[in-house]
Amino acid sequence: MDKKVRFGVIGSAGLIGNYHANLLREGGGPYQLTALCDLDEARLHQQCQRLGLPGTTSAAELVARDDVDAVIVGTPHPLHAQHVGLAVEAGRDVIVEKPLAATPGDALKLLKAVNRRRRIAGIHYQQRANPTVIKLKEMIRAGELGKLLSIRVSGSYFKSDFYYTLGGWRGTWRDEGGGVLINQAPHGIDLMCFLAAEDMPAELSGHCANLYHTNSQVEDHASATGLFPNGVHFTMNFSVATHGDSSRVDLFGSAGAVMLQDGKFARYIRYEQDLVDFARSYGGPNPYGAGSARGARRAASQPLRRGRPHPQEGQAAGLGGRGNVVAADHQRHHPVELPGQEGEAAGQPRPVREDAGGPDRQRAPGPAPAAAERRGHGGVLTTSDLRASGLDGRSNNLKSQHAGAPAAGGSRFWAIRTAVCTGRFGSGSAACRRRSC
Ligand SMILES: NC(=O)c1ccc[n+]([C@@H]2O[C@H](COP(=O)([O-])OP(=O)(O)OC[C@H]3O[C@@H](n4cnc5c(N)ncnc54)[C@H](O)[C@@H]3O)[C@@H](O)[C@H]2O)c1
Repeated sequence: MDKKVRFGVIGSAGLIGNYHANLLREGGGPYQLTALCDLDEARLHQQCQRLGLPGTTSAAELVARDDVDAVIVGTPHPLHAQHVGLAVEAGRDVIVEKPLAATPGDALKLLKAVNRRRRIAGIHYQQRANPTVIKLKEMIRAGELGKLLSIRVSGSYFKSDFYYTLGGWRGTWRDEGGGVLINQAPHGIDLMCFLAAEDMPAELSGHCANLYHTNSQVEDHASATGLFPNGVHFTMNFSVATHGDSSRVDLFGSAGAVMLQDGKFARYIRYEQDLVDFARSYGGPNPYGAGSARGARRAASQPLRRGRPHPQEGQAAGLGGRGNVVAADHQRHHPVELPGQEGEAAGQPRPVREDAGGPDRQRAPGPAPAAAERRGHGGVLTTSDLRASGLDGRSNNLKSQHAGAPAAGGSRFWAIRTAVCTGRFGSGSAACRRRSC
């Protein structure tokens, strides 16, 4: 029989560390738990007694043990780089909890150490091992959804102020390194990238804010929209300020659509005819006829394809009209003033895109900036920006031993987080420039 992999856990007495320790202790797989490590002496002692295992408060001591082949790092995010570094320098393989690290600099340092020491390392994105996700990926690869068109991911993981008192490290830039984007959203962001494109977004713009947590400095709400290099559109919305819709992934293809709710199939729709063929071939007589979904789709898509606004724009009333103006304008690549916006009545047009600085609620309507200035605050993340900054995930060989995650998971997360936090992404700099976003 093959030798079992002997695991040690750093941060073993914490929430997720204890979970890993219990699972490993149950055994049954090609692994065994041999040693524990936590800084909290009292909880470590209790855990060692309960599991009948040796323990230490020193991570350096744990990784040096002869009976440890691999290490699970379950400490707070800002310690991930340090603890992964210790483990790989001692020649151990590693599974690190998400997120990869608390700053892009630490993430890159960590990847370099893993590569230099040629260790196997993976990020614990357990959703990748979820049978529903595996099945969905098979369906995508088999073409059952047709051409992928768009993906929508969201999570509402409400937390009270009490949550930020736990562990002594949450809710601060220094000790947590961010909020919902770094703590709760990584699973959803990872799934989005994995399912839609197995790649990072090519373009992204987004907003984030602390909507109401008084004892937290970091963002509790974030949303973004963008495009993957393969043309798949995405929207994402993650919050610990909202409640009720825990976690969703909605994936739309030309031949079908799949909705996941809390990691389970909630709905699968298969179209009778591929939408792309249908849109090209249909020539119905009355595009505005009541209930004529075919006609409406045709009417909406044709002017946009020609780069012209939808007829509804003329009405300049509802959101639909504005959306079409924006969509049509995007095709022409120059800015547009939206009709009927706040401030317009007083003769003071509002900027189409606001400056990246400060939370939304603090912004006052102001005069429209010059077009070039607006473009400068575009919040657009290009693939070449990412490559230039080394954050495109192609330069590392980090492999997930645990859940089959490809190399770029952590880097992807960082790139997205940085772009969302700053509202823009400058090549050559991997740092989140705004700490108060
Ligand atoms: N994959 C998931 O679904 C999931 C779920 C929860 C948490 N996490 C991740 O796990 C990490 C820990 O989160 P948590 O909620 O378990 O936090 P926690 O505060 O409950 O646990 C962290 C543990 O690390 C210990 N620790 C701190 N500094 C240490 C050091 N220098 N050496 C050894 N031990 C040290 C603490 O004493 C504590 O027991 C975070 O990065 C979080 O994002 C992942």
